[in-house]
Amino acid sequence: MSGRPIREAIRHKRDGGELDEADLQGFVSGVVAGSIPDYQAAAMLMAIYFQGMSDSELAALTGAMIRSGDRLNISSDQPKVDKHSTGGVGDKVSLCLAPLVASCGVTVPMMSGRGLGHTGGTLDKLESIRGLRTAFSPKEFNRIASRHGVIIAGQSDRIVPADRILYALRDSTATVSSIPLISSSIMSKKLVEGLDGLVLDIKVGSGAFMREIEDARRLTETMIGIGRAHGVATRALLTDMNQPLGREVGNANELAEAISVLRGQGPPDLTEIVRALGIAMLEMAGYEDSAGLIDRHLASGDGLKKLAEMIKAQGGDPRVVEEPGRLPQAAHTRRIRAWDTGYVTSINTRDIGLAALSLGAGRLTMKDQIDRGVGLTLSAKVGDRVTEGDVLVSLRFNQPPGADRAADLVRQAYTIGALPPDPRPLIIEECN
Ligand code: URA
Repeated sequence: MSGRPIREAIRHKRDGGELDEADLQGFVSGVVAGSIPDYQAAAMLMAIYFQGMSDSELAALTGAMIRSGDRLNISSDQPKVDKHSTGGVGDKVSLCLAPLVASCGVTVPMMSGRGLGHTGGTLDKLESIRGLRTAFSPKEFNRIASRHGVIIAGQSDRIVPADRILYALRDSTATVSSIPLISSSIMSKKLVEGLDGLVLDIKVGSGAFMREIEDARRLTETMIGIGRAHGVATRALLTDMNQPLGREVGNANELAEAISVLRGQGPPDLTEIVRALGIAMLEMAGYEDSAGLIDRHLASGDGLKKLAEMIKAQGGDPRVVEEPGRLPQAAHTRRIRAWDTGYVTSINTRDIGLAALSLGAGRLTMKDQIDRGVGLTLSAKVGDRVTEGDVLVSLRFNQPPGADRAADLVRQAYTIGALPPDPRPLIIEECN
């Protein structure tokens, strides 16, 4: 299969033409082999950025990206279903959802990411557990997923190498924010897992990648279309990210909050999303009474037991599920208090994410180190009534200068008004 020479392919795309499968296979193979130089790859990305992509181009690009490296082949008799979230602040859903769904008899082979900028990453949170590994060869990944029904790990260099190269080019050429490029990037890394079903949690709001519902809907439809074209049933929930999810933002404290969900003691918003996504995952796996099954496994502690099993299989200390006090803790606490009496009418979620970053809980570049014991606890959330002097947020920190900046950001993030805000649904809509 040979496509147009790269210069021709760029020109064709630039002028609004449609690339065929051979063109896109040639582009991806050439980028990975190094035969297409960065300047031509970047020009192609810019042409896609401006011209968009048709459904068949999206399917072909994603397919070529999947074929650029190893594929996972998990030997399990159980259905394999995963979840992907587009990321937000306080989003620790994967940490409790994956073991919960696995405890119901579905294999969840979850490849996850690290935090960057104002959003945290599942791997960083999980690595708060001493000794726990998230880097595995495809063989080890398969062994853990098939034996234990669940794994949460990073992507090895041999999985979708095209995405690493293209993402770095996008990052330096201002072409990240393109729905076709985002969709093919995310979907290639999920479809390589060899899934029977995929559930997407598309976050919308001030702390999300997609701030506007229309953009979130376009991203959702594009991703569902790619899943379908590759024969993987894909569903999505659009969920609100106009305030952090749960009360904890950071790393170790978020993991502790995820553990509390599996004890049946999690905050209502986080528990609601975990239940809804869990039900969708079980439905995709062909289960009847998915809601009953999820509730029974939450109440019985089976999800918690599965989390401990997963932590042990990944080399970590499973005692943290019974004793979260074993997780890293910060040395100092500072409380930010309400400056007025009234209702919390909004929380700029991005600012809360940036406050966590200032404390050292996140990173600005992939080389930065993070401090897993630091973070924020939100005592007041949107709609809560507060009296002047009440604690809004507690900052947990090790480095005082970062805490000063975080305190300013928290004060800037909260709005207190005389009237309660209109309630917003947490689950905005569901798309199949
Ligand atoms: N996350 C990804 O994996 N890829 C993108 O392009 C954007 C977010």
